[in-house]
Amino acid sequence: MDAIEAILTRRTVPIPKLGEPGPDDATLDLWLRCAAAAPDHGRLVPFRFLVVRGEGRGRLGELFARAHAEERPDEGEAQREKLRTNPTRVPLVLIAWADVRPDHPKIPEIEQIEATAAAVENLLIAVHASGFAAKWATGFPAYSPAVRRGLGLPETGRIVAILYIGTPISDQPIPPRPAPGGIARPWP
Ligand SMILES: Cc1cc2nc3c(=O)[nH]c(=O)nc-3n(C[C@H](O)[C@H](O)[C@H](O)COP(=O)(O)O)c2cc1C
Repeated sequence: MDAIEAILTRRTVPIPKLGEPGPDDATLDLWLRCAAAAPDHGRLVPFRFLVVRGEGRGRLGELFARAHAEERPDEGEAQREKLRTNPTRVPLVLIAWADVRPDHPKIPEIEQIEATAAAVENLLIAVHASGFAAKWATGFPAYSPAVRRGLGLPETGRIVAILYIGTPISDQPIPPRPAPGGIARPWP
């Protein structure tokens, strides 16, 4: 699959449609090299990934649920249960976070987060081109201080993506995409 085809056919596969197997170590290594090839202003290398497999997935779900109970006690138990079980439903979870240097004299925080998002998209395309599939999620765990602390991230760390990754177990149609005329226009 060439790069253009991989970009045009990549699509999110929902968690219930992601099964075993996950990638082997060499494949994961390749994906991380693709991530690290993203544009990166000032070569700060803000992108970081926590690799969660095996029993770590259960511990991640427990962390999400515990943080949710602590910070959003009034939200429903069903939502908490989903947060708890989601990581265990896929073979691999990657937490992509930006190791932001807030006081950098030249590169603002937003650009460090943007570089991390670019790394995430590179990785998603590589996942797809390798025959696997993924879902980019954020929601409560991405913005929870208790989750950030539980993962051992610094206070300046920003979670950019929680990537649920596996092998697609059924076909997932490519969603309609906006036409070029809808997103671009000549100027002036
Ligand atoms: C920064 C970011 C955060 C997202 N967070 C969520 C999320 O928490 N839950 C969700 O269902 N989709 C989320 N999405 C959207 C999906 O990852 C996906 O892109 C969207 O459903 C469109 O599907 P596609 O990737 O096949 O085009 C997020 C996307 C981005 C870029």
